[in-house]
Amino acid sequence: MAKEPVRVLVTGAAVKRFEAGIMLGADQPVILHMLDIPPAAEALNGVKMELVDAAFPLLKGVVATTDVVEACTGVNVAVMVGGFPRKEGMERKDVMSKNVSIYKSQASALEKHAAANCKVLVVANPANTNALILKEFAPSIPEKNITCLTRLDHNRALGQISERLNVQVSDVKNVIIWGNHSSTQYPDVNHATVRTPAGEKPVRELVADDKWLNSEFITTVQQRGAAIIKARKFSSALSAASSACDHIRDWVLGTPEGTWVSMGVYSDGSYNVPSGLIYSFPVTCKNGEWSIVQGLSIDELSRKKLDLTAQELSEEKDLAYSCLS
Ligand code: LMR
Repeated sequence: MAKEPVRVLVTGAAVKRFEAGIMLGADQPVILHMLDIPPAAEALNGVKMELVDAAFPLLKGVVATTDVVEACTGVNVAVMVGGFPRKEGMERKDVMSKNVSIYKSQASALEKHAAANCKVLVVANPANTNALILKEFAPSIPEKNITCLTRLDHNRALGQISERLNVQVSDVKNVIIWGNHSSTQYPDVNHATVRTPAGEKPVRELVADDKWLNSEFITTVQQRGAAIIKARKFSSALSAASSACDHIRDWVLGTPEGTWVSMGVYSDGSYNVPSGLIYSFPVTCKNGEWSIVQGLSIDELSRKKLDLTAQELSEEKDLAYSCLS
């Protein structure tokens, strides 16, 4: 029997195009709700026209609107891409106060009008803290359902290792992004492996250059978003959209056996990360639920980096709450 369509909201839809393909599985029809601000209404309509023209077999309808209530009504998945964008030279904190008020009002609309058990992915920066604000103002959405995107950083880390070793990116797995989707994030390869004809080998053994792994690799991943803004004059679009699809697909359909991914989730105190922050952890997903991978060893260098990014998130949280008052 054909599946009922799932309603997927994408905010900021005219700005960053979102792949409306098989994000939720090859047999899962989708009705796409797109929200943008009134000045983008014409562009939004252009995106709707393109979606119709693309003739995606799974796309069963498109709601393109500038009305937040219409956009949020009945949605099962919400991908929050819309926000005040960071421009070249701006720090993420500069955009905090504008985004706090946007996220507060969108959270209230989701709280009232989204489907029960709606899954939320926040992409717009500062993503972790926007997700925290959304959680605060949408209290009836379970806290496990509110996440932010660090899969982009996770995929960037996989890409860097694959380039360095000249191996297929699909053969590299289990990197971790800890913490904030910012330049304090910690891309960790201590548990990452590469599939080789002789079995799975640790990334550290194959790269055999701890100096590179502990410095240039980390800063390249941390600074990749800024490097893309510098090159394109706009922030990442294709890689951000594709990693957002990866995040939702794995959350809903599950991660492959023996593989974890990185997701920004509400901290329960695992790895001594303060609870009450949206922090990126290694997670596996099954039956539509994520769980933090437990028991990984954390060396001294990693501990410092986990704490540093947690510290930044605590400061962002304080700043965000001060913008609310
Ligand atoms: C990215 O990582 O590409 C973006 O989050 C950068 C940004 O600030 O928009």
